[in-house]
Amino acid sequence: MQKAPLTIQSLTLDSPVILAPMAGISSLPYRRIMKSCGAGLVYSEMVSANGLVRDGAKTQHLLITHPEEYPLGIQLFGSDPEVLAEAISRFREPPAVVDLNMGCPVKKVIRSGSGSALLRDPKLIARILKAVRRRVTGPLTIKIRSGWDIHHINFLDIGHIAQEEGVDAITLHPRTRCQGFAGRADWNHISELKQALDIPVFGSGDIITVDDGIRMYRETGCDGLMIGRGGYGNPWLIQQINDTLQGKQITCPSAIDKLAMIQRHIDLHCEQFGDDKALLEMRKHISWYARGMEGASQFRSQVQSCRQLSDLVVLTHDFFHQDHHL
Ligand SMILES: Cc1cc2nc3c(=O)[nH]c(=O)nc-3n(C[C@H](O)[C@H](O)[C@H](O)COP(=O)(O)O)c2cc1C
Repeated sequence: MQKAPLTIQSLTLDSPVILAPMAGISSLPYRRIMKSCGAGLVYSEMVSANGLVRDGAKTQHLLITHPEEYPLGIQLFGSDPEVLAEAISRFREPPAVVDLNMGCPVKKVIRSGSGSALLRDPKLIARILKAVRRRVTGPLTIKIRSGWDIHHINFLDIGHIAQEEGVDAITLHPRTRCQGFAGRADWNHISELKQALDIPVFGSGDIITVDDGIRMYRETGCDGLMIGRGGYGNPWLIQQINDTLQGKQITCPSAIDKLAMIQRHIDLHCEQFGDDKALLEMRKHISWYARGMEGASQFRSQVQSCRQLSDLVVLTHDFFHQDHHL
């Protein structure tokens, strides 16, 4: 099952299992957690090229990085080739990978002509890639959806354009813009893209279990797997897929292992954003960590009503210790 190490231009990944860019989720603390669980590459939340160029300070906080998370990919969104190219020069330090978002379905992003709106204008995509490629000497990747809607499925055309313009790898989330997150991701599109291109293809969409990851890898022939929602409260998924690909036995975390991970997650959030934001963010993450455990739904309501980080910590310790003793 194991293939040769995956290389994106000059970058060789330790693992073909990588973290998806997710706005509101893939902040620095989350990326450090996922990296510590074996992610071969972690992507930032999407960063506005306009924001970087026009009001740098507000957007710059999204570019804060830590050596522990290397290699980091920064994802940009925008629609103006020159602004996107200019945004590259505003990075504090060059990331290991630059990625361009061509799949975001959110209305506000679409209205600005960015994200998956670009899929309707392949010529603009070519111009963007030309301009950005001139500025980025290291690995350049793009992330796309299958097309705008089922009548305009054009991931193969976009893939060919990307390869011709010198993109080093491509990720496909095989849903259309109009589908949003509904229905199932059509993994056949990932197979078709892989067969059509020479550059590495990452598959994204509906990898929730180890079995899903292995099936996508085997059935589509893709070069790498991108983990999104399946990693919510379950960063171990990445290590478990890595272990399975290497023919090793997988281990499952105990309640005490989960508690230790949560504590580290809280500490990283506090270090980065302070206690108030950590409380808001960790209420969501801790609810995810508890999924599937006995009493999880009652615990979730208690978590949501916590107003102090110290209360959240006590509540969480009690819940996970209690599960340990069941
Ligand atoms: C909350 C959330 C935020 C997302 N933000 C981004 C983003 O900023 N950039 C991007 O390319 N994709 C984004 N995505 C899409 C994911 O990267 C991924 O392609 C998609 O969720 C399908 O994979 P999954 O089924 O493993 O979650 C986001 C998805 C979610 C759920």
